[in-house]
Amino acid sequence: MSRFRVSLATILLSLLGGAVAQDVNATRCQADLTPAGAPPNNTKVLILGGGMAGVIAARTLHEQGIDDFVIVEAKHVFGGRMAKKTFGVNGSEYVIEKGANWIHGTQTGSGPANPVWLLAQKHNLSMVESNLFTDITFFDYNGPNNYSETFEASLAAFDSARALAGQRWQENKTDLDLRSAYNYLGIAPKTPQEEACEYYQIDYDASQTSTLAAAWNYNYTFDPEAGGYSDVDMLSVDPRGIACIVQAEAATFLNTSQVLFSQIVKTIQYNQNGVTVQTTDGYTLTADHALVTFSAGVLQNTDVVFDPALPDWKREAISSIEMPVYTKIFLQFKEKFWFDTGIGLYADQQKGRYPVWESLDHPDLYPGSGIIFVTVTGDYANYLEQLNKNITQVQLEVMEVLRRMYPNAPDPIDIWLPIWGRAPLFRGSYSNWGASFVPQHSYNLSAPVNGHLWFAGEATSLKYFGFLHGAYLEGQNAATNIAACINNPQRCPSST
Ligand SMILES: Cc1cc2nc3c(=O)[nH]c(=O)nc-3n(C[C@H](O)[C@H](O)[C@H](O)COP(=O)(O)OP(=O)(O)OC[C@H]3O[C@@H](n4cnc5c(N)ncnc54)[C@H](O)[C@@H]3O)c2cc1C
Ligand SMILES: *[C@@H]1O[C@H](CO)[C@@H](O)[C@H](O)[C@H]1NC(C)=O
Ligand SMILES: *[C@@H]1O[C@H](CO)[C@@H](O)[C@H](O)[C@H]1NC(C)=O
Ligand SMILES: *[C@@H]1O[C@H](CO)[C@@H](O)[C@H](O)[C@H]1NC(C)=O
Ligand SMILES: *[C@@H]1O[C@H](CO)[C@@H](O)[C@H](O)[C@H]1NC(C)=O
Ligand SMILES: *[C@@H]1O[C@H](CO)[C@@H](O)[C@H](O)[C@H]1NC(C)=O
Ligand SMILES: *[C@@H]1O[C@H](CO)[C@@H](O)[C@H](O)[C@H]1NC(C)=O
Ligand SMILES: *[C@@H]1O[C@H](CO)[C@@H](O)[C@H](O)[C@H]1NC(C)=O
Ligand SMILES: *[C@@H]1O[C@H](CO)[C@@H](O)[C@H](O)[C@H]1NC(C)=O
Ligand SMILES: *[C@@H]1O[C@H](CO)[C@@H](O)[C@H](O)[C@H]1NC(C)=O
Ligand SMILES: *[C@@H]1O[C@H](CO)[C@@H](O)[C@H](O)[C@H]1NC(C)=O
Repeated sequence: MSRFRVSLATILLSLLGGAVAQDVNATRCQADLTPAGAPPNNTKVLILGGGMAGVIAARTLHEQGIDDFVIVEAKHVFGGRMAKKTFGVNGSEYVIEKGANWIHGTQTGSGPANPVWLLAQKHNLSMVESNLFTDITFFDYNGPNNYSETFEASLAAFDSARALAGQRWQENKTDLDLRSAYNYLGIAPKTPQEEACEYYQIDYDASQTSTLAAAWNYNYTFDPEAGGYSDVDMLSVDPRGIACIVQAEAATFLNTSQVLFSQIVKTIQYNQNGVTVQTTDGYTLTADHALVTFSAGVLQNTDVVFDPALPDWKREAISSIEMPVYTKIFLQFKEKFWFDTGIGLYADQQKGRYPVWESLDHPDLYPGSGIIFVTVTGDYANYLEQLNKNITQVQLEVMEVLRRMYPNAPDPIDIWLPIWGRAPLFRGSYSNWGASFVPQHSYNLSAPVNGHLWFAGEATSLKYFGFLHGAYLEGQNAATNIAACINNPQRCPSST
């Protein structure tokens, strides 16, 4: 999701989220699973993490006839980076999404379908199509300023970069970072407006992003001509929260003894015979295989200790991917006073300063909610997580920008932002490949270690890193390989 078309979309989409929480039952995912008691020990498989990848891996094992597994999850609910929150003042509360909010890419004709979009339909998720590239009002630090032609040019620039990456790949030429690719193509944003448009295309500092990885990521999701799903972005507005798609799915095949919630994995010991996992509350669980679905950010830190330490090739791959922060700040006002489009793009003199504003008080979303959110990424998002120790300061900064757009804007009645970068269970929002990208790092990130320790999650996906569907397909793929190994030892990976 290295591209705003992707990630911005993601950002934008993720920012939007819920619906009025009037009826408690209507906001609960009916199929929420409540675990009980101690889990079985000495199972065939331990699935570590209950986000999209973990739940789909479990379902895949079940489909392959393997039910002897346990999912270990630190939270008390499935979903991981899909997580809802009720936001707003008393009497005017809405369900918003802290993390993923959009399903990016659906299906074109009889082409490949996004499996997450199919899952959402299976569980009747309420979704609204977002027009992230056409439904925009433009602003800069002097107020409204229609620079839509600059915006159109920035769309064309990314298309040129995708084509360049494809051509260079075929010619066996080295990857370029996006900044270099743009320079090479003669594209050099100079004005704040041009910078804001470029920012919208690429969700953080372009100079850090691999053009090849960004082009594949975009193509396989959004471009049907390149094997992708479609350029349609669907926003969840379901009061049950988007995580309901995995919670309800889990309830179709899991029983309560297959889940251990509220347990943080501290150590993962592995050898050529199997795996032993220890949790903070003192559980010791052994299994033939463990599938690690923790985020790349968690693996990059010391929260989870591998014993022995992971081999150099694996640590190199884990270290090579980046785990930037993408943050949405939600604001509620007494009433809407802003643009009628879905999005407001703001060009500050400082690139990346509160650039993308998304209205939830929209006829198709939560009319009358008075809610708007603004997205920041990268270094700015890190700074904001620090500033958030005092929300009043965040509000002062955000309102300074909003008053550039609307000088008479009143103070908000509620403000909130989720923390992803400093969250020990995530340590970032979603992964991205930087300028040093080589495809081998992606393969090595997903490769098993010692024949018993397996890896899956959005970050291990070469084609769809960052996305929900990347996590889905990686969980499915890893579990398929684990099941093949359990059912036929000749199909196990090398244990050395
Ligand atoms: C702000 C934001 C917006 C996003 N927007 C979109 C979007 O609109 N569309 C889209 O497609 N994608 C979006 N994404 C990305 C998407 O959310 C992820 O790609 C996907 O949810 C990752 O799933 P996963 O299973 O790989 O990882 P996770 O969801 O991170 O699952 C891993 C699980 O492991 C658990 N865990 C971690 N450490 C431990 C431990 N030590 N012990 C036990 N359990 C542990 C975590 O609690 C978590 O449940 C967004 C992400 C963020 C943060
Ligand atoms: C909510 O669901 C519970 C259990 O299904 C039911 O007993 C209760 O009446 C419901 N409440 C409302 C307000 O619908
Ligand atoms: C739950 O699954 C486990 C593992 O397959 C099985 O042993 C147990 O009987 C199941 N329990 C119920 C209530 O179905
Ligand atoms: C919200 O408002 C209702 C009535 O307007 C009141 O009964 C309730 O206690 C309030 N809740 C909170 C959390 O303030
Ligand atoms: C989805 O809605 C359809 C039509 O209302 C209904 O038949 C079906 O049971 C629902 N599915 C789920 C999983 O709720
Ligand atoms: C902005 O400019 C574009 C093209 O120049 C035009 O189509 C569009 O209507 C303008 N928008 C506004 C709000 O004036
Ligand atoms: C992405 O798709 C475009 C258009 O379909 C194509 O020209 C380009 O080569 C592709 N890029 C890569 C890296 O595959
Ligand atoms: C690129 O490298 C591959 C594998 O080494 C080779 O088969 C192919 O001919 C090369 N293509 C070009 C254009 O050099
Ligand atoms: C699981 O089994 C291992 C070895 O068989 C044992 O050391 C451990 O204490 C057991 N854990 C639990 C929770 O029973
Ligand atoms: C990937 O891992 C293999 C070992 O499995 C190693 O030989 C290779 O050098 C690694 N590639 C990179 C780019 O790190
Ligand atoms: C929070 O920031 C505001 C505005 O800068 C300041 O007035 C207030 O004293 C700060 N509060 C704390 C607890 O630091």
